[in-house]
Amino acid sequence: MKLEAIAGSMKVREYRHRNRLVVSACVAALYAAGVAPLPAMAQDADDVWAESVLKQMTLDEKLDLVRGSNPFAAKPKLSRDVAKGAGYVKGVPRLGVPYLTESDASVGVANMMGGLRPGDVATALPSTVLLASTWNAPLVERGSAMIGAEARDKGFNVLLAGGVNLAREPRNGRNFEYFGEDPLLAGTLAGHAIRGVQSNHVMSTIKHFALNTQETGRTILSADMEEGPLRESDLLAFEIGIEIGQPGSVMCAYNKINGTFGCENSFLLNDVLRRDWGYKGFVMSDWGAVHGPSIRAGLDQESGTTPADAGYFGSQLRTALAAGTVTEADVDRSVRRILRSIHAVGLDTHPPAHRDIDYDANGRVAQEVAEGGIVLLKNARNLLPIAASVRTILVVGGHADVGILAGGGGSSQVNPVGGAVLKIPAAFGRKLYSNSSPVAALRNALPKATVSFDDGTDPQRAADAARKADLVVVIGEQFTTETMDVKDLNLPDNQNDMIAAVAAANPATVVVLVTGGPVLMPWLDKAGAVLEAWYPGQRGGEAIARVLTGAVNPSGHLAMTFPASERQLPNPTIPGYEMAGETVQRDLYGLPKDMKPFSVTYPEGANAGYRWFDKTGAKPLFPFGHGLSYTRFSYKNLRVTGGATPRMSFTIANTGKRPGADVAQVYARVDGAKRLVGWSRVDLKPGESRQVSVDVDPRVIARFDVAARNWHVAEGTYDIEVGEDAGQPVLKAKVRLDEQRIKP
Ligand code: BGC
Repeated sequence: MKLEAIAGSMKVREYRHRNRLVVSACVAALYAAGVAPLPAMAQDADDVWAESVLKQMTLDEKLDLVRGSNPFAAKPKLSRDVAKGAGYVKGVPRLGVPYLTESDASVGVANMMGGLRPGDVATALPSTVLLASTWNAPLVERGSAMIGAEARDKGFNVLLAGGVNLAREPRNGRNFEYFGEDPLLAGTLAGHAIRGVQSNHVMSTIKHFALNTQETGRTILSADMEEGPLRESDLLAFEIGIEIGQPGSVMCAYNKINGTFGCENSFLLNDVLRRDWGYKGFVMSDWGAVHGPSIRAGLDQESGTTPADAGYFGSQLRTALAAGTVTEADVDRSVRRILRSIHAVGLDTHPPAHRDIDYDANGRVAQEVAEGGIVLLKNARNLLPIAASVRTILVVGGHADVGILAGGGGSSQVNPVGGAVLKIPAAFGRKLYSNSSPVAALRNALPKATVSFDDGTDPQRAADAARKADLVVVIGEQFTTETMDVKDLNLPDNQNDMIAAVAAANPATVVVLVTGGPVLMPWLDKAGAVLEAWYPGQRGGEAIARVLTGAVNPSGHLAMTFPASERQLPNPTIPGYEMAGETVQRDLYGLPKDMKPFSVTYPEGANAGYRWFDKTGAKPLFPFGHGLSYTRFSYKNLRVTGGATPRMSFTIANTGKRPGADVAQVYARVDGAKRLVGWSRVDLKPGESRQVSVDVDPRVIARFDVAARNWHVAEGTYDIEVGEDAGQPVLKAKVRLDEQRIKP
């Protein structure tokens, strides 16, 4: 009997969520029929569907499925039903295989690919580093489900989301797209973000695999790190993110890793991802990241080709097939993986459609996420929340009279709902402001106060105005973008001088930072309070106002360390920056003309971010995990259970006067290095206390044994610390752990 007849007769789709045994029976039937056996791993209904479809495909159809293209350049033109974004892949409608319609990305349905088209708008979710700073998995999942639903309702079935590269280089221009510097936090939250997106039957990626740590020279550099530290840091974030999120696709990175490009890195794609982690989805390339028909190295699909170049997975793959250096079985393997993910996420059974979107409801979700991830860094003399006695407020800078910088630049940029109220040209793109003015939001929230605005371009004028106000809110803004790193951690355009002048004129000055990542604060001792609002998205102005007025009690905690100076960093200058600088002449993927390949090494190894600060004893400006509240919390009664399944329990109490949420963090010392091993986020009323427990994933307390290819928890006594951040511990204990070996 033919394979498709067997599979078809079993109506495999109906078995998707049913008993494995049924599927196994089907697979057994396939074997009995003597047809090509499926790979040796456990089979499920998705594999069976993929196999049945694959068998009916022609070679041309298969080759279409392994090559993505630019929808705006398609010839002949694509029909109106195919949503146009970052890319598309031709489907096989006769077999129920949909076109893949791809859009960026993690902070909303990006709509820049076809240029800035006024009517083409989407809800701007706050930046991913803000999502990470919520430490709140359900909230991250909800926010991401919202953008996934928008993608679906705009006709897309793939969202190029799930950026989980560790933010180990604070000057990286894309940190705003990533989940911070810790593998457990980043992997966990990225996993939930992916889950949120895919709950709409919209496939998510996880990207950029791996060690895409900077933008400077991203397409030519080699990121070099030994396997052990790599497994314990950046790869661990992917490992956890994939386990939780089950993304349909992994996007390989532009850069080389230890000398081999990400998209032809058989070690990463075949050995780590598939052999060790058992990943069953497919690998798609980043746009323009392919250098050959590298299907045997583990790449399944090339993205972003044009009809003119046809890509390496176009004409070159055909040539390789003809020459026999690639076989149809190689192509089948990739097609099978792509089909599998299509079925696993339900793209075939839940086609996206152009539907009306409730932008108001979605704006509220974006605002709620922003309110959860804004971090109160400093609050001297309880300057915040704004006291009822405050009558005159001066807001300075950030174009806060018209809107708020909604996000960073590059492929992820979202043209916000309502259209950008302000567009300012920037190197490599433009800054877009959403219609969410902090000034207007403060006026609404505080009808009895007079709120005025100064644009901050003249520090003296701003300082004079500041002197006359009861309270000053000054915005410090830093635009970051894909393709470019920032040259240093200073706020650009003399804003530091302006903020220093304003804060010196009035100690009741609140600095609100709207930045892609950490910045230096030479004016910190003069400022009364500081809020890190990251890029707060569609309704960032309202979210900031609600935190300032106390309608929201801040609960965000930094997902990145804020250094006190660049000298504290493992690489005091960005590798390669001297060759790129702020050159504006760059190729399509951001590479400055004449830049030569180079290597990036990582003195910190697995000890990125706070771990490096801990190891070197350097005191950051603000530690990872830091975040104040308008109430206070205390911790007591730390009890630890060791053995093979470590668990830490303790009591958190709200000892202040307001309801609030706390993020208590548990760290362990592994071979002397500090590691986040868990956290507990709890909402508590004043006077309320709760006992919480943190179960530790043994991998975060293990070393990776490269020779044995497994995680090794050494038997012994480990120091455990519970704290409000990665700096000073509040509670300490020792725990005795058994020796353990865990397969990745
Ligand atoms: C970026 C990816 C993005 C892709 C498609 C690339 O330049 O690195 O993150 O998904 O473009 O727009």
